[in-house]
Amino acid sequence: MNLRVLPDYEALSAAAADAVAAKLREKPEATFLIPTGTTPLGMYRRLVAMHRDGLSFLQAAFFNLDEYLGLDPEHPASYHVYMRENFYGLIDADPTRVHVPDGAAADPDAECERYEAMIRKCGGVDLCVLGIGRNGHIGFNEPGASFDSRTRVVRLAETTRLVNASDFAGDRAPEKAITVGMRTIFESREVLMLASGANKARTVEAAVEGGITDRVPASMLKQHENTTFLVDRDAATTV
Ligand code: GLP
Repeated sequence: MNLRVLPDYEALSAAAADAVAAKLREKPEATFLIPTGTTPLGMYRRLVAMHRDGLSFLQAAFFNLDEYLGLDPEHPASYHVYMRENFYGLIDADPTRVHVPDGAAADPDAECERYEAMIRKCGGVDLCVLGIGRNGHIGFNEPGASFDSRTRVVRLAETTRLVNASDFAGDRAPEKAITVGMRTIFESREVLMLASGANKARTVEAAVEGGITDRVPASMLKQHENTTFLVDRDAATTV
């Protein structure tokens, strides 16, 4: 695992966008597994600007890491809407190669299998970009997630439901979600994990300096041979 500390959020976002753009130039039909959350917004903004300057995403395949279970793709807090508004709707991505798990699928387990099969059909993931939850989750792989897990329905940690509550009318985010699994993330040829801000410092410390444990899912990335933690200075104060 490589640790790269950038001076601030803007530099972190630029480094992440550059990594995606470099992969695209090397392999225009590359498959990307990508996150939601506030952290990657700067990266998406930059990629959209690069698109305006001529970068094409037309041949690439995109998969999102997760989606809340029970949310219609048109729900304002759905990751479908987030991705459309912040990225997919602003670039020349091929709609047939853009994938977000369907949280409203009639048979969620079948949807998970379909999603996993689609990733395989696209040749596996070339570059996986991740955020990190306050409790160390990656995608929605919460503490305790098995290293062998695949795309599946998960119950969200109470802390996650509280942290993510602001996107919803009630006082909690939904109880469950669909997430790409730990094994699927691990099979990515390259992983980039982004962390920004002082409120991620303890999490980053646990992931970087603590043992490899399913209590901190991001710590398990240390076993992946091509992983970089891209962290801004505020998130790196204790490493
Ligand atoms: C959500 C997402 C994760 C994301 C995390 C961190 O829970 N499911 O994929 O990494 O939030 O979000 P933020 O970047 O807003 O801190």
